[in-house]
Amino acid sequence: MSGPRRIAVLGSTGSIGTQALDVIRQLPERFAVDSLAGGRNHGLLAQQIAEFRPRAASWQGAASADLEAAVRSTGCRFAPVEDLALASDIPLIATAGAAGLFPTLAALKAGMPVAIANKEVLVMAGNVVQKALREHGGRLHPVDSEHSAIWQCLWGEEDHGIRRILLTASGGAFRDFDADSLAVVTAEQALNHPTWNMGPKITVDSASLMNKGMETIEAMWLFDVPMEKVEVVLHRESIVHSLVEFSDGSVKAQMGVPDMRLPIQLALAYPERMPTPPMPSLDLAAAGSLSFGRPDMERFPCLRLAIEAGRRGGTFPCAMAAADEVAVGRFLDGEVGFLDIPRVIEAVLEKHDGIADPDIETILEVDLQARDKARAVKPGVPV
Ligand SMILES: NC(=O)c1ccc[n+]([C@@H]2O[C@H](COP(=O)([O-])OP(=O)(O)OC[C@H]3O[C@@H](n4cnc5c(N)ncnc54)[C@H](OP(=O)(O)O)[C@@H]3O)[C@@H](O)[C@H]2O)c1
Repeated sequence: MSGPRRIAVLGSTGSIGTQALDVIRQLPERFAVDSLAGGRNHGLLAQQIAEFRPRAASWQGAASADLEAAVRSTGCRFAPVEDLALASDIPLIATAGAAGLFPTLAALKAGMPVAIANKEVLVMAGNVVQKALREHGGRLHPVDSEHSAIWQCLWGEEDHGIRRILLTASGGAFRDFDADSLAVVTAEQALNHPTWNMGPKITVDSASLMNKGMETIEAMWLFDVPMEKVEVVLHRESIVHSLVEFSDGSVKAQMGVPDMRLPIQLALAYPERMPTPPMPSLDLAAAGSLSFGRPDMERFPCLRLAIEAGRRGGTFPCAMAAADEVAVGRFLDGEVGFLDIPRVIEAVLEKHDGIADPDIETILEVDLQARDKARAVKPGVPV
């Protein structure tokens, strides 16, 4: 690689974004921040601008006084996220929700590589993303630890048939709870993930297994396999990040310490691997034994709903993701219970008239409509 790779860190104030900045901080000769994009946490974005002195930045709403001061003193200028993505060597899409869609599509249509953490982009608009990849020759470098693992298992195996993809799941904060206990869990409990330190939405999705459901849909688009070939395996230790079974029955797994900085640096550095200085070696003897099991779709209906939406295809995954985002917000606000999350999603999907191979306008319209419906659902009362 000649000179540091210039990164647009979109979602820099979030969990993935701050860990990506940590990776960049550790490897200044390989990576440089070209631009930063946050949402409403202007205080943190101001600090990041002061430290990394990006060429340009983006944020939501009117700039706070400290953000204005940071921008003025560093000469950084405001630019839309699509422009930030296009001006970089590689954008990291680490915004939450639908906000990642347009910069991803802009970069792929320019034939660029994209480091993608954002789940909703592929869940909502996988067909549109795949079309952009086919027509313009860009590349997706997955950041999620499971998809990074599958990606790594497939290197050098391009001509070999995939029999199955095995996505591992830690099981989230409530993996040992029975149905009665699940009915009364609080948002505070849901936000306490056993292994990973993530943003609030994805942490609740991990507890409901919706996160794993979305990952099966992402895997289908990223690795061009039908949903039937993607299976979820419970694996508490979060050491085996996922596996691929090939046509001859051979299974490859990728393992590592559960630290998101590893897949982040790989997605940014690919095809190189870089020594991320503070990363400890995996101590298998200390881990002892590794356990595997089947997920319980009765206790965790979100996983079933996501797999069904993925199989039905078209706009079903988009409607599901939108309904989930609203339902999780309502749960975090204390308005509905944890078990109401799948009830809200199911109520929205029951009334959804799917549209096959939707374009981006249809996807955005379905997203808005599903959100409206999800806000109106009173769990237990038909919509
Ligand atoms: N965290 C993980 O370990 C992990 C692993 C795999 C995949 N992912 C996926 O990566 C994405 C980010 O996850 P996260 O855990 O980092 O989330 P997070 O901590 O909630 O951070 C989200 C980031 O997006 C920004 N943002 C939110 N809404 C926005 C909008 N409308 N426009 C522009 N920026 C907006 C936030 O800005 P402000 O905070 O400034 O408002 C923040 O920078 C999600 O799609 C998640 O599913 C995360």
